Amino acid sequence: MTFENTAEFARQLDATDPLASYREQFHFPSIKGKQVIYFTGNSLGLQPKRTAAYVEEIMEDWRQLAVEGHFYADKPWWDYHERLAAPLSKVVGAKPSEITVMNTLTVNLHLLMVSFYRPTKKRYKILCEEKAFPSDQYMFQSQIKFHGLDVSDTLVEVKKRDGEHYWRTEDILAKIDEVGDELALVLLGGVNYYNGQVFDMETITRAGKAVGAYVGWDLAHAVGNVELALHEWDADFAAWCSYKYMNSGPGNASGVYIHERYHGRTDIPRFEGWWGTKKETRFLMQPQFDPMENADAWQVSNAPVLALAPYLASLEMFEEVGMPALIAKRDLIVNYLEFILKEIDREVDSNFEIITPKERGTQLSVFLHGEGRTLFDYLMEHGVITDWREPNVIRLAPAPFYCSFEDMYRFGQILKKGIRET
Ligand SMILES: Cc1ncc(COP(=O)(O)O)c(C=O)c1O
Repeated sequence: MTFENTAEFARQLDATDPLASYREQFHFPSIKGKQVIYFTGNSLGLQPKRTAAYVEEIMEDWRQLAVEGHFYADKPWWDYHERLAAPLSKVVGAKPSEITVMNTLTVNLHLLMVSFYRPTKKRYKILCEEKAFPSDQYMFQSQIKFHGLDVSDTLVEVKKRDGEHYWRTEDILAKIDEVGDELALVLLGGVNYYNGQVFDMETITRAGKAVGAYVGWDLAHAVGNVELALHEWDADFAAWCSYKYMNSGPGNASGVYIHERYHGRTDIPRFEGWWGTKKETRFLMQPQFDPMENADAWQVSNAPVLALAPYLASLEMFEEVGMPALIAKRDLIVNYLEFILKEIDREVDSNFEIITPKERGTQLSVFLHGEGRTLFDYLMEHGVITDWREPNVIRLAPAPFYCSFEDMYRFGQILKKGIRET
């Protein structure tokens, strides 16, 4: 398709967008009385209008039924989390039995490392990407120290090449081979939070497993954004948050995938609690832990139902639309955004650089040579919500559920003015 940098062309794309009606189903903030252009769905997705009713349902059940809501609410609380497994399994490409929802992301990655990072004298190293999301770095360091190991000897960070902004798959594979039988765990972000790169998860998973390591994924920036086939790729485990592309609210609950080969086993080390023991016998209050025969065995506490309600509301929308339709719009809108950026760069000779490689989801990270922080502030003041990452990067993620093509055009006009005026 040949794009044009005009309002008419952008409106035409909106007119033929099969997801256009979903934009009306989200709450948008306003700045100076005008609805914002929202580029930070990769940080906190917008609130779907239907979410409040899901939360109110729990509040009403709590008012009317109190403790009886656990078993007699329309959606009983004691197994409320099970409702999320089937729709989530489609989003991440897994079996429903391989999915559970609990806690928050870093907590879950820690819990998963209890099961899947079991260093021995010979096999103890962890491989990740350099400058992984800071919470992951702190998690690795603390896990390594917990096992009495030395961080610098244990953590293997794959670097980008000098002068390049992305990781090469061949460098990751070479590092996996080099560490070989010392490698205990490969754990990367499926999509890097900074440059928006989508890693070749299938190939990396295969390579990690070929040398005998466990392979897991932090899918915070991947879930609801890119195609995932965790089961088919044979990944051992994964976890993700629900507040970015999953639109489930600030700090909300985390999804977990655990390959079915680990289910129902009593020999896997795991930090356990009563929600992981079999439903049928849970309330007999017996001392013996009898694991659920699915990913729910990793559940620790009873489910935070008020937090799960927005997640369920959001998953209903993913069910309606499906990942293929979201991905089709994602590709069109991000390509259009890239075109607009290049047009503006040409028109005003602004000298910025898109550092996201072609393996991408909906995020474009733009390195601003020069204008930097003042331009970012100008955009925010003029109703463009984006985010700033040191030293000079803004991240633009047009979420396909609610961003319009006209937003991209309008953004381009504001950017052009901003470059001229700052
Ligand atoms: C890639 C990645 N990992 C981990 C986290 C931490 O998530 P949480 O605060 O829910 O533990 C984030 C948060 O944005 C993230 O983007």
